[in-house]
Amino acid sequence: MGSRIVILISGTGSGMTAVLEACERGDLAADVVGVLADRPCRGLEVASEHGVPAAVTRLADFSTRHEWNQALTKKVRAYAPDLVLLAGFMRVLAPEFVDAFPGRLLNVHPSLLPAFPGARAVRDALEAGVKVTGTTVHLVDHEVDHGPILFQEPVPTRPNDTEESLHERIKEAEHRLLVDACRALLGGDVVVNGRVASVMSGGER
Ligand code: GRF
Repeated sequence: MGSRIVILISGTGSGMTAVLEACERGDLAADVVGVLADRPCRGLEVASEHGVPAAVTRLADFSTRHEWNQALTKKVRAYAPDLVLLAGFMRVLAPEFVDAFPGRLLNVHPSLLPAFPGARAVRDALEAGVKVTGTTVHLVDHEVDHGPILFQEPVPTRPNDTEESLHERIKEAEHRLLVDACRALLGGDVVVNGRVASVMSGGER
């Protein structure tokens, strides 16, 4: 059995699918053991089609955001993950969730952070008229779209780009980057602030 990856999504789950297929091909020595979403979405169906347990934990089903965070933390923890990926998960998680998975919680964001954090990153980059944007994979800390940057890939903008066309090219880069990031982190090849970020030694299981 390889390393255990849990993925959180809110949409089509294209990044999730890239990781899932890399595991299935044997390009990544890991298994996606669970997929969780904050809303019903296409990505959950894709996960199920691949035989991966997939479930929704909706904020609206809890009386407070704190209870929702606790429930989600419990569900992710139950999978005993080596790595937790936020791959298009469109909700802000509480510090308690982040602290439950030290050194093994990754986010992928469609810009070259620290430029253009937030939910409208692709549109903001286009509106700013940048010639190059891209994608970032980073460890998650208590701020939104923030934390030690592990990998980035630039994506040039084109004069006729729409938000959709640019986002499509960014996603292609994201899918490569996500798989590379998982492989590097699980292999103990990532150095953050001079220390190896080894997910296998990160916190309790
Ligand atoms: C990605 O661009 C990711 O960076 C952003 O949401 C998008 C994921 O979309 N946070 P999808 O659900 O994988 O299609």
